[in-house]
Amino acid sequence: MRVLVTGGAGYIGSVTADVLRRAGHEVTVVDRRASPAVDLLDAGATREVFARARPEAVLHFAAHSQVGESMRDPQKYLGENVTVGRNTMRAALEVGTRRFVLSSTANLYGAPARVPIDETEAIRPGSPYGESKAILEREIAAAFGAGAVALRYFNAAGATEGRGEDHDPETHLIPLVLRVAQGRLPQVSIFGRDWDTPDGTCVRDYIHVSDLADAHVLALDAGTGAYNLGTGRGFSVKEVVEAARRITGHAIPAVDAPRRPGDLATLVADASKIRRELGWSPKIPRLDDIVASAWRWMSR
Ligand code: UFG
Repeated sequence: MRVLVTGGAGYIGSVTADVLRRAGHEVTVVDRRASPAVDLLDAGATREVFARARPEAVLHFAAHSQVGESMRDPQKYLGENVTVGRNTMRAALEVGTRRFVLSSTANLYGAPARVPIDETEAIRPGSPYGESKAILEREIAAAFGAGAVALRYFNAAGATEGRGEDHDPETHLIPLVLRVAQGRLPQVSIFGRDWDTPDGTCVRDYIHVSDLADAHVLALDAGTGAYNLGTGRGFSVKEVVEAARRITGHAIPAVDAPRRPGDLATLVADASKIRRELGWSPKIPRLDDIVASAWRWMSR
């Protein structure tokens, strides 16, 4: 299939583009970090690239994706993420693309009533980042109908042989903890030890980036609507730090820090819908394997 991948030079997009190529798809990456660079904020440039590629499906990853930054600079998210999404949608509609798969987020479930969280949970975005995804989820459903799929990621993590997570600035727990093990940072901060969780630190559902990528490949020709993507198992910040200590053999000093604005105690997926409807299941569900993959990549 001809597949256009926006944000295909980023962390999750680049891993997915690799998996698509290996599965025999014809992939066009559109990204301002790729060469040639294409800025999806430019509606004309976006239409041109679609006119050339004429994709049958779009996987739309391109977005600013930091919850914390979105609290400080909401316009960057409500403005740019939404504009980039709309430019991509319009260009896709113009060339007759039928399938639109959106990278969405568990941040949509601002204050979940039930954990694990399933897709019937109310949408109450926890941040302008989550709000930007909520807007785009509604709009792709209206524009693409049964061809619209939103994949709501929990915590993407880990690395493949050639690609891993390296944001600048980095804010995510696993890469930060591993930077401490590399000696690039003196210590990791634990954002709150007084959460209502078993050990007092926040609990998240870490999902390996190649398992996320596999879900996108399945979503190219099956499924409609929203799907949670997580393993269904939660690990606390403390457990992540301990896993990294085991894997790296480094002491990884950790210090207590205040809660981070926008955080929630526990986010764990009920991903039974995608398992049932698309036959997806994680191949790398164990936290130690996820952290070890990131460590191998960073050590290279
Ligand atoms: N944390 C620390 N210290 C750090 C960094 C993070 O204690 O230095 C904690 C956070 O408070 C949180 C957990 O580690 O409890 C995970 O934090 P991340 O920043 O790695 O990830 P988030 O859970 O904040 O956010 C991620 C994605 C979002 C997505 C969300 C959905 O980055 O885009 O998962 O669950 F919306």
